[in-house]
Amino acid sequence: MLRLGVNIDHVATVRNARGSAYPDPVRAAKLAEEAGADGITAHLREDRRHIADADIDALMEALSVPLNFEMAATDEMQAIALRHKPHAVCIVPEKREERTTEGGLEVAREENKLAHFIAPLRDAGCRVSIFIAADKAQIEAANRIGAQVIELHTGAYCDFHYEGRFAERDTELARLTEMATFAHSLGLEVHAGHGLTYETVQPIAALPEVMELNIGHFLIGESIFRGLDPAIQEMRRLMDEARS
Ligand code: PXP
Repeated sequence: MLRLGVNIDHVATVRNARGSAYPDPVRAAKLAEEAGADGITAHLREDRRHIADADIDALMEALSVPLNFEMAATDEMQAIALRHKPHAVCIVPEKREERTTEGGLEVAREENKLAHFIAPLRDAGCRVSIFIAADKAQIEAANRIGAQVIELHTGAYCDFHYEGRFAERDTELARLTEMATFAHSLGLEVHAGHGLTYETVQPIAALPEVMELNIGHFLIGESIFRGLDPAIQEMRRLMDEARS
């Protein structure tokens, strides 16, 4: 079955816009669980612009489904992950000035450093996922450093769709398709995410090697109009329809 991981970062974005105690991302995570999320994803950024340390503490305490802890490859984040030992960690690139995670991780050039970085996380029992572009060299490097999972960055595919650049979108989709097959052939578990919406999710959900989608920003936005539970259920329905 294709799993849906719901990213609740942007509930915290709304909370932090006012420096208030609400809306509570943990409450959203519990609602997402009830709506059928198979996991919850949260990204503790270095600048704490949305999720805060206390949110991770509370999520670890409250969740019944696995937490996928997104983090940059820094000593600070490694220490936090080792303290909590979440089900999964997803290593993402992070730049302070970016609005969101803009590209995949550069694994090929940082192979030794990343191999040493993820070893203790694996030893602690976390499934290590690496967020990368659909690029053969990056996938091979992720495999060599001992990651169990890669998450393919679907941001460019989604951006092309909404910019009406359909030929480029289709080229990117073909690349994602080919690289999902390639990664799977190496024995890696394949996930995908970033920027996915009701309009863009189905071609990605239809890829047979993809085991999990991580979706946040669109779902939190859509929940303004429909409520979180129906927003998630519609995403689940579209994923299941594409898969069958
Ligand atoms: N996967 C990864 C690795 C991410 O960094 C993000 C964004 O935090 C997502 C999935 C979810 O992306 P979006 O919020 O655009 O759905």
